Amino acid sequence: MPVVSIAREGNVAVVTIDNPPVNALSQAVRQGLLDAVTALDADPAVVAVVLQCAGRTFVAGADVSEFGKPPQEPHLPDVVSAIENTARPWIAAIHGSALGGGFELALACRFRLALADASVGLPEVTLGIVPGAGGTVRTIRLAGVEAAVDLVTTGKPVRAGRALELGLIDEVVDADLLEAAVALAKDLPNRTLPEPLPQRPAPVADDAFWTDAEARITKRARGEIAPLRALACLRRATESDFVTAMTFERATFLELRAGPQASALRHVFFAERAAPKPAALSGVPALPLRTAAVIGGGTMGAGIAAALRDAGLPVILIERDEAAVARGIANLSDIFAGAVKRGRLTDAAAEARIAGVAGSTDYAALADVDLVIEAVFEDLAVKRDVFAKLGRICRTDAILATNTSYLDPREIAEGLANPARFIGLHFFSPANVMKLLEIVPTPETGDATLASAFALARMLGKIPVRSGICEGFIGNRILKRYRAEAEALVRQGHAIASIDAAMRHYGFAMGPFEAQDLGGLDIAFLQREGARAAGRNVPETLGDTLVRAGRKGQKSGGGWYDYNVGDRRPLPSDEVARLLCLDPATAVEADLGSIADRLVGAMADEGATILSEGIAEKSSDIDLVEIHGYGFPRWRGGPMFQAASDH
Ligand code: 3HC
Repeated sequence: MPVVSIAREGNVAVVTIDNPPVNALSQAVRQGLLDAVTALDADPAVVAVVLQCAGRTFVAGADVSEFGKPPQEPHLPDVVSAIENTARPWIAAIHGSALGGGFELALACRFRLALADASVGLPEVTLGIVPGAGGTVRTIRLAGVEAAVDLVTTGKPVRAGRALELGLIDEVVDADLLEAAVALAKDLPNRTLPEPLPQRPAPVADDAFWTDAEARITKRARGEIAPLRALACLRRATESDFVTAMTFERATFLELRAGPQASALRHVFFAERAAPKPAALSGVPALPLRTAAVIGGGTMGAGIAAALRDAGLPVILIERDEAAVARGIANLSDIFAGAVKRGRLTDAAAEARIAGVAGSTDYAALADVDLVIEAVFEDLAVKRDVFAKLGRICRTDAILATNTSYLDPREIAEGLANPARFIGLHFFSPANVMKLLEIVPTPETGDATLASAFALARMLGKIPVRSGICEGFIGNRILKRYRAEAEALVRQGHAIASIDAAMRHYGFAMGPFEAQDLGGLDIAFLQREGARAAGRNVPETLGDTLVRAGRKGQKSGGGWYDYNVGDRRPLPSDEVARLLCLDPATAVEADLGSIADRLVGAMADEGATILSEGIAEKSSDIDLVEIHGYGFPRWRGGPMFQAASDH
């Protein structure tokens, strides 16, 4: 079956792209489209052409897997231009997503129809590139400067309704898309054709607009270059003629495509798509997950409950007493109220979210749930007690999960009848926001339970990473090493503020010490104290010295830094210097890059050990953990990608 085929509906030709899974514009598709233009232009019986796609979506873009290789003819801009200049008008019939090169293809058509649930967009910046086939130059002519800047520099797609408002499509279709497109094609002789985009004038914007946009994007990008380069393409589109702007955009695309940021972002793109599909589970069906319960309504429990509600599952929230239930529900209400405030939920949707939560102190309420996630205090005895009750009350096929961060899931599950349904599900706070979910099976966890955990991640929109059992699993184990290395730098005379500055400069939102001050130093301290009390040899850290002196972070008025009341800006602290015997006057001079390299190198080194122990299955999983759980800059690809690129 050819990837591009032509059929007839009377005097209308229907060109169908069929290149599963997402109709990406591979070399064969580009060639097929060019051949279709030539064939149809030569056919006097054809009055118009409908371009549609088979399968789940319209064209989702250029074929990203071709990006690492030399470009092959025909190039996409030539295909787009051939369609734009064809003797017959082409009509794009969009279902699913028209993204990147797919949307650029649609922009070459004279008309664009889309199903109401379709979306269109230019997500190239998320791959470290800019549109490469006229996306900036044509979009700005249709949607105007502001909307084009928003679309192209964020890369966020828009739904058909919004696309219609912006002028990016011509019609939203509710019923049969092909029928509507063919009807339009047949009606074309009665319509005035819109002017081709190259002949339309580009809108303009003043210097102040561009300066302001540049400042905003620079701040948001934290070192990522594509959004700023996309802005430059848009500006050029307003200041040059069509052809010059197209040449500028293509050159920028080719330059970025060959660069390190695009290569890192491609790595993340494929890593994210590989993570939810572990080979070992192929063909294992997941159990149905229709109802869920969360044990513990603290910050973590409420966040998990919110994530479950966001995915549409009814939730039972269990707490020890009525007051704790009320606090848990209040925590949930706060989360949804915050979403309303940020414009992410309507009032009515927030109310419906809360209405789907039933608070209870009685485990008997869990007799029929499909999934229980325990998020109580990190104490083995308390957790075991919870699972003993769950084991007695829940259905034997219900999945019982612990959200422990540091305890050994095998010990938590001890004594549980049917341990095959037990698993660790490690969420990251705030659990309704953070994308990472570490999935931690014990040796006894059954395949169906594991497959269901991956299915749950999909339902919740999380990136699942399977982790073996070790202290801290993948993420917190690397975090521990990262912090230890940062402390080693301090001991060697580096200024605390320089280390934080180095990591911000690298692309993190915060450095290691600022992050500890925000989250609190006491949690890790108490853990170490617990291990010491259990007779383990845990060396004293600099953080321990600060906590012992009452410096637990921002919440206690200071940690690694001092803070003025009501002000989160970190100030170098004389008290810290004294407590840790640091002499700021003799601080080591080091460039920010070498500090960051050392810290990222330590993360990668720990990652390599984790991989060699089989705790992580693939090195790209470790990168995903760091990117989605710990703020590692996505455009750097993760510590393992960085280490591999350095050699
Ligand atoms: N190229 C190659 N493969 C792609 C692809 C692309 N553009 N987009 C998706 N795929 C592959 C995925 O790797 C995955 O493969 P697998 O099954 O072997 O793992 C498969 O298609 C399905 O992808 P998803 O799991 O992401 O499927 P979803 O249904 O969840 O999402 C989608 C579909 C919304 C289309 C999503 O795949 C997506 O956002 N794709 C990327 C779109 C994109 O970034 N396009 C721009 C490309 S750059 C470009 O066009 C440059 C141009 O300006 C010149």
